[in-house]
This record gives sequence, structure tokens and C-alpha cells, in this order.
Amino acid sequence: MTSQIMRDHMKRGLGMPRELYLSPELYERELEEIFNRSWLLAAHESQLARPGQYVTVESGFESVIVSRTLEGELAAVHNVCRHRGARLLDAGCGTARRLVCPYHQWAYKLDGTMLGAAKMAPDFDKARFPLKPVHVTSWQGMVFVNLAEDPEPLAGLLALGEDAIAPFDLPGATVAHEITYDVGANWKLVWENAQECYHCNVNHPELIRAFDLAALGDFDLRRSDDMRVQSARLGLKPGAISLTLDGRPACSLPMLTGDPYTVALHLKPTFAVVCCPDYTVMLRERPLAIDRTEVTMTWLVRAGAKEGRDYDLDNLIKVWDQTNLQDWALCERTQLGVRSRFFEPGPLSGDEPSVAAFHHAYAAMLSEEK
Ligand code: FES
Ligand code: FE
Repeated sequence: MTSQIMRDHMKRGLGMPRELYLSPELYERELEEIFNRSWLLAAHESQLARPGQYVTVESGFESVIVSRTLEGELAAVHNVCRHRGARLLDAGCGTARRLVCPYHQWAYKLDGTMLGAAKMAPDFDKARFPLKPVHVTSWQGMVFVNLAEDPEPLAGLLALGEDAIAPFDLPGATVAHEITYDVGANWKLVWENAQECYHCNVNHPELIRAFDLAALGDFDLRRSDDMRVQSARLGLKPGAISLTLDGRPACSLPMLTGDPYTVALHLKPTFAVVCCPDYTVMLRERPLAIDRTEVTMTWLVRAGAKEGRDYDLDNLIKVWDQTNLQDWALCERTQLGVRSRFFEPGPLSGDEPSVAAFHHAYAAMLSEEK
């Protein structure tokens, strides 16, 4: 039903129907059918470089521990004890040599192998109770997990963006800064907003200092058939070579050698990356509630770049942090509007083809009828 309503609106060139932002049943389905089957960004590899380093990835009611094992492998396991189900680790990141449940101290290796449990019957077989594994993979220096049983390989999904992203050598980067935003809007409003620059001229004074709105859409736009994956070069104003306040690189150590360009890659609805010649931002998005979305932005620079010497942190993060805050205010304003019984979606403009592409991807991701 939902996909059908959506397709109907798409055919007529309209925005998303109001109910789709507001239905609690649909929200539950989205968590299960979309987010718990999509590749979720866990970390940059540099955040999991040393044995024992871990991060958790939260998605709906699920939580995953992603780590570098003591043997040096990447591992991902469900953050659920095999005894009576307690969460093993609190959400966040840290270092651990093994995972010990706080409740009754069942202990596991980072790869989930069970190490021991006190006072169990003599016939208790440790091998039968490992932590359940989760698919984990690394792509261009970024680590992803997927809760699906048999997910589509990530490398194949993102192949259309690989030749544009690879020259930035993201595996050779390091994290300069990370901000997590709590946005008071449905996750689809956040994505729709990110898909168009119809609003940029008036709302993003910092972004448009270097970003050339007139060049939008002209550069090597590629989309997967289902429109979940999109890659596009971003046009900068004459003389600008990076998305910074003055158009000059914010970091003196380049990430890209060769002719400078800027490119964005999206994997809807969980991940985006924007690579500039001197820095990159990774974005991950996850719904916290029907009207609340968490967005984390991570700024990467060339490994070895030092704050204060090679970059000024405020200058590095300024454009995107301001742009984000401006965008969240717009999303929250729209959330208030779509709650109104009198909201009826209007037609999309000629500057919003990627919003329509997002709608297409959304309809494709929801399973057919329920
Ligand atoms: Fe984890 Fe009991 S629930 S040891
Ligand atoms: Fe914006």
C-alpha cells in the first residue's frame, strides 16, 4: 500500500504523502525492512586500527560491537549476551581485550568465541554459545556492518563511485573531528533536504561561498538503477579548490594528488561521504524515533596532519557544521508543518530531481505490500 501511494505521488511529481512521516507502523517497518538490512557505517578504519579497539553501532533495538580483534581481524557481533540477554557494552567506543557481561560475567573473545561461564553444569558446552556474528566489511577505509542474513556485497553496491573516491586515499586518512547531531525530524525529511539545493542560496551563506549552485547537476552524476546509490562531482566557484569559507584548502596536507575535484557519494538511507582535495566528511544517519534522527559527521584529514600546524580545526569544520545546523533547523521546521492536518504535498521543482530519486529508492526499499 505504502509503496503504491508513494509511486502515485511520484508519477504526479508531488512530494511525499503526509502519512508517511507520521505512521508509527510504517516507522517500525522502515527500521526492520530498510535500516536493519542496509549497510551501516561503523567507523573509519583508523578508529579501529589497534587490537582491542571497538565501536558500537546502534540501529533500532539492535546493537552491534565492531572491533579489531587481538589477532588483528575486523569482527562484528551482536551486543547481546548468550546467557539471559544483557547488553555487554554500553553504546560508544573504547578498548577491550575481551567482552565480559556485567550481569553474571560470561566472557567472550572480541570475535564472539565464548571463553567461559562460572558455575555452569559439567556438560555445558561453551562452543554452543558464541556471540552471534554480524556481517562486517571495509570499503575505501570505512568500516560498515549489515544486520541482514545475506546482504548484497557493499563493494558491488558502491562500485559506481569507486573510481571517483579512490584517488582521495581514504584508508590513508585519520579522524580530525566528529559531531553527533540530534535532529527533531523524521529521517526521510533529513534525506530529502540533503537531496536538493533549491534551499541553499538563501539558507547556506557559508556553503555557497565556495560551492557553485550554477554548476549543480552538470558533473558526472551517476545513479544505481534502484537510485539508492548516487555519486556526483560538486562544482566549485572559479578560483575555489575546496569547500571552505575562502575556497582555499583548510588542511595543508592534501588527500588528493593530481587535479583537484570534489565528489559526493550517497548510499541511501544510511551513509554519505563528500571528498574535497584536502579533507573529507563521512555522514551516517539513523532514526532515533519517528520524529528524531541522529546524524554523525566525521571530518577526515591526511594521516599525519596536525591540528594547529597543518589545519585550524574551526576553519576545517566551519562550513559543514554551519550548513548542518542550518539544515536541521529547516528539517525541524518542516516536521512541524507536516504534522498539521492541513499539510498536502505540493509539486517538486526543477531543482529537486534527487528528491524524486530518493522517493524512488524509498519505494524500492520497502517490501511490497503489507
Ligand atoms: Fe550475561 Fe547473565 S546475562 S552473563
Ligand atoms: Fe542544506
